[in-house]
Amino acid sequence: MTASARPQTLWLGRWGFVLAATGSSVGLGNIWKFPYMTGEYGGGAFVLVYLLCIALIGVPIMMAEIAVGRRGRANPVEAVRRVARESGCRGLWSGLGWMSMICGFMILSFYVVVAGWSISYLWKALSGGLQAESVDGMAAIFAANNANPWNLGFWSTLVTIVTMLIVGKGVQAGIERSVRWMMPGLVVMLALMIGYAVVSADFSAGVHFLFDFNVGELTGEAVLAAMGHAFFTLSLAAGAIIAYGAYLPANQSIVRTTLTVAICDTLVALMAGLAIFPVIFANGMDPASGPGLIFMSLPLAFQAMPFGGVMEVVFFLMLTVAALTSSISMIEATVAWLNQSHGLTRRRAAWGVGIVLWVISTLAMLSFNVGAEWKLAGKHFFDWLDFLTSRLMMPLGGLGMALLTGFFLRRRAIREELAMPSWLFGLWQFAVRYVSPIAIVVVFLDALGWLGTGFDWRWLAAILVVGLAVETGLRKRASRADEAVG
Ligand code: TRP
Repeated sequence: MTASARPQTLWLGRWGFVLAATGSSVGLGNIWKFPYMTGEYGGGAFVLVYLLCIALIGVPIMMAEIAVGRRGRANPVEAVRRVARESGCRGLWSGLGWMSMICGFMILSFYVVVAGWSISYLWKALSGGLQAESVDGMAAIFAANNANPWNLGFWSTLVTIVTMLIVGKGVQAGIERSVRWMMPGLVVMLALMIGYAVVSADFSAGVHFLFDFNVGELTGEAVLAAMGHAFFTLSLAAGAIIAYGAYLPANQSIVRTTLTVAICDTLVALMAGLAIFPVIFANGMDPASGPGLIFMSLPLAFQAMPFGGVMEVVFFLMLTVAALTSSISMIEATVAWLNQSHGLTRRRAAWGVGIVLWVISTLAMLSFNVGAEWKLAGKHFFDWLDFLTSRLMMPLGGLGMALLTGFFLRRRAIREELAMPSWLFGLWQFAVRYVSPIAIVVVFLDALGWLGTGFDWRWLAAILVVGLAVETGLRKRASRADEAVG
């Protein structure tokens, strides 16, 4: 029996896909990674580039991925192969599916460690272990939590097991219910924390840090980091959205769902920034403290808040659930692939993948204690997993997806999936044909230092305007050809 002859599993109800995709995109990326990267890259200018990347690159590519997933109705490897073949392209394109699937697996290998921090902080919050006099005291708690590999390994193993249990059961049942209450809960918690920041911390310093920008301060590396993070936070280029798109019912709008997901994701990230930075500045903490940033700053705020003890428990619970709904999505591609293309049951596939994942994530976990000295070119294994995926594989995967859907797939096929008015389709096509590919290539070259120190962004604008003009001409011709045929 071919995979396409199988009965289709689809998301339940109108909100199923939106909930699942939001659950995938809202995660540690928004609450843990976005603030610490913003802190490391100096604030507003980074935030601005990040927002531009979401709007100009992330949103169009998310639409492309959902479209490919739904048209292919399979795991990323198989889905990309099918849509490419349908349009008469080479099977070579399935390499794109392969890379994204592997990328999702690699991300999960370090993601479970951070999710482990989150759940261990939930435990500490419950058992009263998060009390300290100062930032230094909180930093010491964070360091102690990392120092013991048995402790850290316990929590990341727990996350791995829970993730694989849910994925083994099938994502539909596992995800939809948890996201439905978790998302609103998370937003309410963040709103309360922002309220606290307004009243008792240095809110204006936080706002200035996040939103004042001086583009001159940006380095090529920071722009690449912002772009990579835009992919990460929207769960793009790592198989998750293609895999979920495969379960999207035919009558649901890809445009509307994409916009909903992207807006929720961005709001949660900005809210997290607004909740965190005022506390950081009020306590004289360095915003560039790195990956431990939220774990050192937020408990201080909770300590000083009315009902802080309860809030803290609720917050770390939400963070853990947000992390889990993302973890699940990262490994769905691989499990679906083993299930559909190799005939394993989902449960078997999940256990098999889980064991390999456990080995690799344990190596990543050791970067924080026993393996602190195991470095290659100055980076730990944990950092390498993050670096390779966010700075290399995801932008490359995004580039491939943009080119595939922009130039190689038949217009008819992709238009049918996207089902948007023709002016909007024109904009989308412009985005995936020119904006994303050019931006990705330029950002790469700039980060490598190949464009010299003073890349003039006006050049980029000029290239895009010329592209738009050429594109408009071509589109007129193409639609005339379509009319002639049909
Ligand atoms: N977007 C999630 C976050 O921000 C992480 C994530 C989930 C992800 N699935 C992904 C990242 C797939 C890349 C690819 O936490």
